Amino acid sequence: MSNIIIKQATETEIPVIEGILLDTVNWLNEMDQPLWSVNEVKWDTLSKNYEISNFYIAYMDGNPTGCMALVDYDPFFWPDVKRGESLFIHKLAVTKSARKSGVADALMDFFKKQGTERGVKTLRLDTHALRPKLRAFYERHGFVFVKVKVFKGDRHTAFYIYILPDSVLVQNKSSWNTIADDFFGVTALPTYGCLCPTEDELHLFPELNGKKVIDIGCGSGHSLRWCGDHGADELWGLDMSDKQLENAARYLGENGYNPKLFCSPMENDSGLPRDYFDVAYSIYAIGWTVDLLGTFKLIASYLKSGGIFIFSWDHPFLHCVDVDGERLVFSGSYYEAEPFTFRTGIPDGGVPLTLMNRRLSDYINALATAGFAVERVVEETDKETLERDTEFSSAYYAPCKAKRFPMSIVVKARKL
Ligand SMILES: C[S@@+](CC[C@H](N)C(=O)[O-])C[C@H]1O[C@@H](n2cnc3c(N)ncnc32)[C@H](O)[C@@H]1O
Repeated sequence: MSNIIIKQATETEIPVIEGILLDTVNWLNEMDQPLWSVNEVKWDTLSKNYEISNFYIAYMDGNPTGCMALVDYDPFFWPDVKRGESLFIHKLAVTKSARKSGVADALMDFFKKQGTERGVKTLRLDTHALRPKLRAFYERHGFVFVKVKVFKGDRHTAFYIYILPDSVLVQNKSSWNTIADDFFGVTALPTYGCLCPTEDELHLFPELNGKKVIDIGCGSGHSLRWCGDHGADELWGLDMSDKQLENAARYLGENGYNPKLFCSPMENDSGLPRDYFDVAYSIYAIGWTVDLLGTFKLIASYLKSGGIFIFSWDHPFLHCVDVDGERLVFSGSYYEAEPFTFRTGIPDGGVPLTLMNRRLSDYINALATAGFAVERVVEETDKETLERDTEFSSAYYAPCKAKRFPMSIVVKARKL
């Protein structure tokens, strides 16, 4: 097993950095996939954009095998991101002899660790948009594609972002603890979401008699009670908020149930049993995850083969549409993947919660990668809203919007 050590570079290591980058230039040229010119990787050129302390070198068994530059400001590629808000990686390179040795993975892990230590919420990178293998490498490391931009007429550049879980989860947990009582039973089965058909109409759940169910982001436990009332044999709930779980334990206990409740972010392996549950579901909670694919993979692991997973969340169009007088305007961007923070609840202007928007394809593709077959996607508004007259209003979940597009998505999938 090789020993990989990553160190911040010093002035004396400038030739080492040049050597690694030149090796990569030559290797990529050999493969007819040029990325940088020889001149671009000389320190005279690099020093126009980087300090030596920006560079980190990976030594494998004492030999220099990879490097990267980490900077806290990138106004050329990310002009809207203020200095210190994010960490950016540039000039990631691994020598030809060290390819497939784990050096690139080690550098990416180190990048994440640096982001956490520096207290930023996100990591960002840009890469060649027309190099699928390179993009797959970053996606495998959890980076989420944001957009493609073409520079200088033909430089197709793909932008990626990674949310550092700890920064967001610590804040969201504290905020959910504060607002738990405001969300007591607010969205729970048979309700899937706002102005959308309920389970009583959709019949997505299988017969629950004797079944084991797990609620991901169970909140106050009202959906678990619905499952219990429909015959489920074992009720399990997972939530990151201890206050929500305290409410759920009390509420379910008062109603004669004895659930097993786990306090953990859904992104983490919390020790829930594997291949155990018949049904996993999540009512208006899955969108809070900072790692959609990782969360879906964990949920798949909890389910028996053939087990059902159902979730509901805001329809991805919702954040793009505003009301302007008596018109709906498409004012946002469906592609916007930046995490954003808003405040909710009382007192003092509320508590901060951080979220990111996702496209419908993000959910469906992540389900497929996690080993699910999608059985049904519901994009509907309830009959009552469609039939009644509605006034234009600027509310987020306004009936005038619901008459034209669904407020929520509900997805049913089966573990393969
Ligand atoms: C709107 S409530 C869900 C309501 C609940 N599903 C029900 O049926 O009553 C959202 C819940 O997600 C939880 N949550 C948010 N982020 C989470 C995360 N990363 N992991 C686990 N739970 C999370 C919150 O604590 C909150 O209880």
